[in-house]
Amino acid sequence: MNRLLIRGGKKLCGEIDIQGSKNAALPIIAATILSGEECVIHNCPHLADTRAALEIIRQLGGKAECDGHTVVINNEDISASEICNELMCSMRSSVLFLGSLLSRRKKAVISYPGGCDIGLRPIDLHLKAFRELGVTVEETGGYIYCSLEKLKPNIINLLFPSVGATENIMLLAAVSDGETIITNAAREPEIVDLQNFLNAMGAKIFGAGSETIRILGVEKLKKVEYNIISDRIFAATCACAAACCGGDVVLRQVEPEHIRLMLSMLKDSGCRISSGKRYVRIQAEERPRGLGKIMTSPYPGFPTDAQALFMSALATAEGTTVFVENIFESRYKHVPELLKMGADIIVDGRLAAVTGCNYIQGAKISAGDLRGGAALVIAGLSAIGDTELSGIEHIDRGYEKIEDVFSALGAEIKRK
Ligand code: EPZ
Repeated sequence: MNRLLIRGGKKLCGEIDIQGSKNAALPIIAATILSGEECVIHNCPHLADTRAALEIIRQLGGKAECDGHTVVINNEDISASEICNELMCSMRSSVLFLGSLLSRRKKAVISYPGGCDIGLRPIDLHLKAFRELGVTVEETGGYIYCSLEKLKPNIINLLFPSVGATENIMLLAAVSDGETIITNAAREPEIVDLQNFLNAMGAKIFGAGSETIRILGVEKLKKVEYNIISDRIFAATCACAAACCGGDVVLRQVEPEHIRLMLSMLKDSGCRISSGKRYVRIQAEERPRGLGKIMTSPYPGFPTDAQALFMSALATAEGTTVFVENIFESRYKHVPELLKMGADIIVDGRLAAVTGCNYIQGAKISAGDLRGGAALVIAGLSAIGDTELSGIEHIDRGYEKIEDVFSALGAEIKRK
């Protein structure tokens, strides 16, 4: 198994292009199933998860080719309605194919999705909404059998603004007869990107980014060429690394509005931040300051995906930060590894109290999930001495060659 070897203590300086968003790319790839015509997607990141999504397309009978960061998909010949267990288990977003497959084939058979081990992650909200829209859902023997004669337009009130459930409903209802409304919808930028993609194909969806999304079903979707938004969590990863390593980093191809809250928190911790059209500059000259309390919540609140990143950045801050993880039940798997590096962190249920220490030390550690793994890279970069990080297949699910990104900023990091 590959490992990352990191020699910490280097300041980070330079400019870096932010990759396309994983969490926007995955529902958009699933959405291509709604059209039988060619879909050209630019700025699609090369990741284990996007590769798995394209493999699902091929398994269902479609064609998918990559040329750099451009993906060309043609789903004219989609002929299957079942996704194999291996691909379903490879990532959480496999569940998003349920909505588009049902819409296209009126039938879908899947097993339960996999993904990062950060909590229970049920799909009850997806299935409840589908039932309310007229889908027959049968769960038996580890498989979910769904069929749909005709979508029954309805108002779906989500009990929680689930990102995946909001996307799945949009995918199911985009091609239909009548109007479907989602209330208490997720408001993440990736939802807006999915709306923009579907509308570019001819859908009539309004309101993404707000609590209420209106989907006026259309008869058919056509071909499209589309550019995916940049990855706000990737941007946050680079910003957090700069904050604790020190230096001067410019993030290019980034949407500052998507990371505004995180940037203002880094500013509160002592960084100098400036931004303009599609760039952000982070200058960190002093030791970061603790931020008091950070509570994760749905967008536009502080993202759960950035909780571990900020924890690493603030492990060496002056003062204390208390994290409250409100979205997932077990998203502190990086903490035992940070403790091995000398961090001072106490976890109690959903709370983690981080008392900043003067320094952390390199250690032999292991990543257990995607963002926790990226956080350990940040910790290794800011630590004194050498870190050997295993479990990096988790990181590869969301970051395109993370070692190249930080090497380009002057860090000593290599894959072995
Ligand atoms: C998306 O996951 C992201 N994944 C996650 O990113 C992100 O952490 C999460 O949203 C929250 O922002 C993708 O977009 C591919 P949810 P998703 O449905 O859709 C509960 C990363 O690191 N819930 O909003 O799975 C659920 O258990 C990843 O890139 C139900 O109870 O998130 C969780 O506690 C990891 N029943 C909460 O809601 C349901 O049917 C939020 O989940 C659905 C969700």
